[in-house]
Formats: sequence, C-alpha cells, structure tokens
Amino acid sequence: MTSNDLNLVHGQGASGLDLQTSDGSLSRNEDTTTLPPRSSRIPGFAQMPVRARLNALVERDFLSRDCADALSDAGSLTSELADNFIENCIGSFALPLGVATNFLIDGREFLIPMAVEESSVVAAASHGAKLARSRGGFFTTPTKSIATSQIQFKVDPTEAAKIPVWFETVRAEIITRANACHPRLLNRGGGTTGVELRILSKPGVFVIHVHVDTREAMGANIVNTIAEEIGRWLPSAFPCRVGLKILTNLTVHRITRVRCEVESKNLEMGGFTGPEAVERIVEAWEFADLDPYRAATHNKGVMNGIDPVVIATGNDWRAVEAGAHAFASLTGQYKPLTRWWKGDVGQLVGEIALPVAVGTVGGVTRLHPSVQSILALLGNPDANELSGIIASVGLAQNLSALRALACEGIQRGHMALHEKNIEMLRRYDHMPSLTAVARGSEPTQNQ
Ligand code: MEV
Repeated sequence: MTSNDLNLVHGQGASGLDLQTSDGSLSRNEDTTTLPPRSSRIPGFAQMPVRARLNALVERDFLSRDCADALSDAGSLTSELADNFIENCIGSFALPLGVATNFLIDGREFLIPMAVEESSVVAAASHGAKLARSRGGFFTTPTKSIATSQIQFKVDPTEAAKIPVWFETVRAEIITRANACHPRLLNRGGGTTGVELRILSKPGVFVIHVHVDTREAMGANIVNTIAEEIGRWLPSAFPCRVGLKILTNLTVHRITRVRCEVESKNLEMGGFTGPEAVERIVEAWEFADLDPYRAATHNKGVMNGIDPVVIATGNDWRAVEAGAHAFASLTGQYKPLTRWWKGDVGQLVGEIALPVAVGTVGGVTRLHPSVQSILALLGNPDANELSGIIASVGLAQNLSALRALACEGIQRGHMALHEKNIEMLRRYDHMPSLTAVARGSEPTQNQ
C-alpha cells in the first residue's frame, strides 16, 4: 500500500478549530440540526460499523434496502458470472467499497461510491468536498457523450494533395454510412455529429475522425463498428490502403469541466492563515504547471479520486486514465489536469478539465451485481452527469492533497498509516502471505 496522504484529512486539528474525522466531517463547532434529511453530510459516519453505514444510507433515502443488501454481499460476483466477463477466469478480486460524503454538485447532494484499496483516499475526497461546500460545492459544465472513431489510411504521396478536396465530396456519405450502422442510436437522439480529416506528419498518411454522440453508452463498441464500416468502404471511394480502424481514447469533444471555490478562512492549516494557505496552494499548483515531474504526481492524486468511482460504476478505468494523460500532454508538455488560483475576494478557485468517457449502459454495468446498486446510490445519473460527478471527485481529491502538501507535508499521516499497517499485520499474523511480507523472511511455523 502506498498511501502517503493520510493527513490530507487532518484539517486544523493542531490549532483546535475543526478537527477533521476520516469521513471528512468536522467533529466540533458544527450544528448538525440544520442539515436537510437527504444531506451528504453524515456526522459520525466514519465511526459507524459497516452495516450501520449502509443503514444510514437507507434511512437517508440514498439507497433502497435491496440495494444495500446487494452491496453488503461482498461475494456477489459469482464465479459463473466472472467466468463470463473474462477468459481463463479462476475467481474474482475484491476491493473495498467506500462512500465519500459531503458532495454538493450542481446544488444536489451526492454520496460517492469509491472502490479503492488505498487508505485515506475516501477521507481526502470527503474532506475536499466539505471544503468546497462553503461556496456551494461543485459546478459542472454539461458536455455531450461524443466518442470518436479513427480510420487510418495511406495514399500514394503524389496523390496526397487531392485528399482534402476529395474528403469534402464524401463528408455527407461518411455521415450517412456511419449512422446506418446504429439506426437505434439515432432514435435515441444520438448519432454522428461530425467528420474530420487529419493530415499526419508523414506524406500520404491521413486519418478520418467520425464523432458520434453515443448517449448513455461509453461508446467504444459503437464507434469501433463505425470505424470498421468506413474502413471497408474507403478503398472503393479513393485508391488507398486502410490501416487501423478503432476509437481514440483522447475524446477531446467530450471534455468534462468542473469548478469549485473555497473560502480562505476554511483553509487554515499547519500554522498558516487562510490567505497564506491560498497562496501556498496556488504555488503548489504552479509547481505542477511548470514541471512535468511534479505534474505526474499531481495528476496521480487527481486520479486517486477519479479511478475509484470509474471502477465502482463498472466503467473502463484504463480508457479514462489513457484519455486523462493524453489530454494532459496536448500542449506538448505534460500539464496538471486541474488549475487553482486566488479569486477576486481572496477565495481559492479551482477547475478541472479532462475527458471522462463513461457510460451508464453497456459494458458490465448491467451484469455486475454491485453496479446497479452503486448507480442507484448516485441517483441513477445519465452518462454526462456521471462524468461531472467523477470529475468533481478528482477536483476534491486534488484540493485535499494540495492543501496538506502545501501547508503541513504528508509525513505525519504517513507515519500514522505505517503504524496502522504494522498493527494490521500483527492482527493477521496467522495469514501466511501477510506474515511473509511483514517479516520479509523465511516462512514461520504459522505457515
Ligand atoms: C498519493 O497517493 C497522492 C499524492 O502524492 C498526490 C499529490 O502529491 O498531489 C499525495
């Protein structure tokens, strides 16, 4: 386990103002009687036993009893189902499922399911969300679910100059052919939104992009079918050799943007005043903006928030990772996925922008026994709402990390976590693999 962000959630414990608990709730100075019944602020959530937490979600109407039961059954992915998902299946691999609290997104309360093995990630997300509540939470900019097919083709370099003109003559036909692949998608309000010719740097090498509104689906299958259909037709329209026909994970027509603000007084930490903390967080962001070595770690922290929600909702986290890092490199230098600056009244302002190609239908969403309950916990969002939720968690996670790194450092939390891990190894000493890891030595008599 590599968690070095345990004290991302320490808040202002040292100065005594608001001691942060691991659910991101503030244990003191809080009037909980004013919370609405369906609030994502659940004081004491972190201290409850697992079953009581599930009950709390049911009581607050975030989850039906059936969904709670489905989630509590950690072994519900049967080997029969798992065997249908992948080849050569020998079992399944479980991850803890946590719930990040405090999320207010576009004025709505959200509890965020996160499937993750790294301790303190859920707490840090909850903490970041708590900080953002002071100025209304997170605000998303709607985007469409646009996925893109790529069709690579090569012509004789002496013919290359003709291609842009020829492309204009077949633009409409490409759209018609692409739409014919998925007539039901058109009925659902989706379909091809545009086609584009890209000229690559090697003479005679081109790519056609077909952009498709895939509605509720992540869209990989939809655009791959289109790519293959256009690839089959292309040589009959112009003498060429067709290469790859596949989607791109760099979905630049599907960029999810989220913004939040935090009052400077809420950022006080490690002996720094709120305004000082704002300055330090902005400088921490600048470090990532200037230096790709730091940007890599900065974005790892962002993905600490994003991946667990992508995984929990049954989506393809490799696709989201690939898209995020390609997007971060678009300018030619690897850049941070977030931006932080000081607002006009001294508040901290943050924004995140990245492609979040996720769906709420298709893939394993219907088949995985937990995913339907997890989507229900999120209020059954559509694909775009889900992208906004996911990006909000990335922004919250980054806020917690930068505040802790800029104001206090992470070593205090790291050492606390180390102690916790040693204690866990002691408790599970009878388990052969853990014992071997803990001692880094020969098998013992327990084994
Ligand atoms: C650790 O999992 C994530 C951080 O390193 C992120 C960061 O440095 O911004 C704390």
